[in-house]
Amino acid sequence: MGIPPLAGVCTFEEAAQLGLGVDETVSRFVRYAWISKRLVDYVLFWLNPTPEWEVKEALSLHTYLSTEHAALMRARVAEMRNPPPRMDIPPDAEIERFLNEILAAKTTLEKVVAVYGVLRPALLKAYQEHYAAAHKLVDFPTRRVLRMVIAEETETVAWGAAAIEALGGMEPVGEWVAHLQAYLSAAGGITGEEPIPAVPLAPALQTEAYTPDFFPRRDARFVQQDNFVFPPHAVARTDGVSDEEKVLALMCKRTLEMDVPEVMARMIAESDGQPWEYFVEMARQLWDEARHAMMGSVYLQHHGIDWKREVPLHPGFSLRLNQHMTALEAHSVLYTIEQSLMPADTGKKYEWVTAQGEPLAKLFQDYDWADEVLHVHIGRKWGLALSGMTRAEFVAMGQRKALESEHVLEQYADPEKQINWWDGFVQKVLGHPSAVAGHDFTTADPVYRAKPTGIRANI
Ligand SMILES: [Fe+2]
Ligand SMILES: [Fe+2]
Repeated sequence: MGIPPLAGVCTFEEAAQLGLGVDETVSRFVRYAWISKRLVDYVLFWLNPTPEWEVKEALSLHTYLSTEHAALMRARVAEMRNPPPRMDIPPDAEIERFLNEILAAKTTLEKVVAVYGVLRPALLKAYQEHYAAAHKLVDFPTRRVLRMVIAEETETVAWGAAAIEALGGMEPVGEWVAHLQAYLSAAGGITGEEPIPAVPLAPALQTEAYTPDFFPRRDARFVQQDNFVFPPHAVARTDGVSDEEKVLALMCKRTLEMDVPEVMARMIAESDGQPWEYFVEMARQLWDEARHAMMGSVYLQHHGIDWKREVPLHPGFSLRLNQHMTALEAHSVLYTIEQSLMPADTGKKYEWVTAQGEPLAKLFQDYDWADEVLHVHIGRKWGLALSGMTRAEFVAMGQRKALESEHVLEQYADPEKQINWWDGFVQKVLGHPSAVAGHDFTTADPVYRAKPTGIRANI
């Protein structure tokens, strides 16, 4: 046996076989990239109104992966054709008609089935067939992209299959599935190259321009979702509180962070004319913030805490930013919070230091801090720079909007449900009274306040 030739990519015999040409590869990649863009849209539109926590978690990951996949495909197309074909418009009306029809989904099951039971499995199949048909040697860069994309889409489709099963299966929405399949077939499938059946298409269900709903929702397991009182914000930074209690507060704060993906989904959805890089980086942060919520939930669950029930994981922050601010104002609030997390004595380093005695919390805070470094950069690049303001102006707007919007929760808050739950929670989890037992707390996160006003008595 000699040294493997052709860099081990394939044999001489395999390399002498034919494969797809450049035109076919470009045309397919343009379609995949557009479909990936629409997959991102669905998440941006659906993340807020979909109540199921686990679906929000997965949508956050999958939108990030779709932005990355589209970026890889766009880059590969640009390598092969100069100037590259436009990739910011639908490749043809028929595939767009199918993709639009998905927006007619109403329930979580219909949404999950449309994306994970119909679209993504067809997309994965197209990727696999493309991978098999591409020339192993001359089209190595295409195959490398497809290899990465197939690996991630395989996991995504597997999540979807399990989620569909848990939501009741495909059967109850059989008509919906058949409707979408018919629309996909009428577009010649994902590649547009499959034979189109000669059957009339049922009338479209999504006939009007889609109006997204950015009102954040939680499912019924979050029994305290209407309680906007959230002492952990203040407790985590209150002198005289033990690190043990502060860590518990930090982990509750992390878990609450599902409201950040909700805020970012709306901000990204309403962005106009941004380059694809914007979507990749913003979706990366969206996914990071969902992971921060997961970090908290993992810690709490590991300590036997029924966090969906015990912690009021209210959507107050996303309610305020999505319903009562423009997308730019919302970005200024996010930017201002992130800037304020950098000082070592009060920000992410402080949180990490606080968690020194708890290895799991320390690890989580370590990566939370690292992620925040990236988010500050993303905020500077896609928030501050696009605002046309100076840093001082942008931060001033963020602080003003954050403070101004605190009171809007009053219109959503049933006074009877605004309860300080922290004392009882600490007693139950730590087995002793809280260091701040008896204090009243606000829902606000003091971190973005210019001069922390400390503990205040309102919602
Ligand atoms: Fe975060
Ligand atoms: Fe962040």
